[in-house]
Amino acid sequence: MEIIDGKALSEKIKDDIKLEVDTLRDDYKQVPHLAAVLVGDNPASKAYVRNKVRSCEKVGFESTLIQKDSTITEEELLDIVRDLNENDDVDGFIVQLPLPKHIDEHKITLAIDPEKDVDGFHPVNFGKMTQGLDSFLPATPLGILKMLESYKIETEGKNCVVVGRSNIVGTPMSILLSRKAYPGNATVTITHSRTRDLRAILKTADIVIAAIGIPNFISGDMLKEGCVVIDVGINRVDDETRLKGYRLVGDVEFDSAKEVASYITPVPGGVGPMTVTALLLNTLKSTKKKLNLTE
Ligand code: GUN
Repeated sequence: MEIIDGKALSEKIKDDIKLEVDTLRDDYKQVPHLAAVLVGDNPASKAYVRNKVRSCEKVGFESTLIQKDSTITEEELLDIVRDLNENDDVDGFIVQLPLPKHIDEHKITLAIDPEKDVDGFHPVNFGKMTQGLDSFLPATPLGILKMLESYKIETEGKNCVVVGRSNIVGTPMSILLSRKAYPGNATVTITHSRTRDLRAILKTADIVIAAIGIPNFISGDMLKEGCVVIDVGINRVDDETRLKGYRLVGDVEFDSAKEVASYITPVPGGVGPMTVTALLLNTLKSTKKKLNLTE
C-alpha cells in the first residue's frame, strides 16, 4: 500500500508556480491576484480561507481577503461580487461556501464573471467542463486529477465509484473521470444518500472517491482488495486529547482501509492541500489568459 502524499505533491506544484510567478514579475511586472470573500464565522470556512490566503503569499501571489458579517444582505454581497468582476487588478476570486441561509448561493455564483471564477462553480465553466472544453475546473476535482496523474494511477476502463453528488466534488468528479482523457475513461457510478446497497457497489470499485462528509463512513471491509481510495472528507470529531479539542478525520476509516487499498490519501495531508494548490493553478491560468500567454 502506498500513501498518496497530497502535502508533498502540493509543495512541489507550489514550487513550480512560484517559478512562473517570478517570470511573470520579471517579464510583465505582474503577479496573479486572488481575492477571497468570507461571510460569517464558520470555523471551517475561516480555516480554509486563511489557508488559501497563506498559500498565495507562499507562491508570491497578491491576495485580498474580504470578510463580512453574516448579517450582510444578498444585495450587498452581490455588490461585492460586481466590484470584483470590474476590478482589473483582480485575476480571480472565490466566495467561500456555505453562505448564510438568507443568501441564495446560486444567485451569487451566477453573478461571478466566468473569466474570474477560479472555483469553476459558474454554470458556464461547469458546462464547458462537461463538454470537454477549456475551463476552470473546480479546485478539489482538479487537485484529485493531479494526484492520480502524479502517482500514474491507471483510470482507463476502471470501475470508479463516487460517493456523494455535490456540485463542488461528487458531480464534477464523476464527469471528469468518465471523460475521454487521462485521467478519465473510467466507468463511473455516482452514489448518494438514496443509493441502495452501497456496500455491494463499493465492492466493485477499483477507485473510490469518498465525498459524502460523514466521518469514517466507509470502512475497509466495504472495499475491494487493491482499490485506490481518494478521501475528500475533512470532518472534525471531538478529541479531548488534542489542544483544539478536535481532530480531523476523513469519510473513510483510514486504519482499516489502508489494509485493503493499493493507494490511499490520508486526512489531513491528502486531498485538502491539493484543493488549495489547484485554486492557485486556476488563478495563475487566469493571469496568463489575461496576458495572452495561454498555451
Ligand atoms: N466550500 C467548500 N469547498 C469550497 C471550495 O472549494 N470553494 C468555495 N468557494 N467554497 C467551498
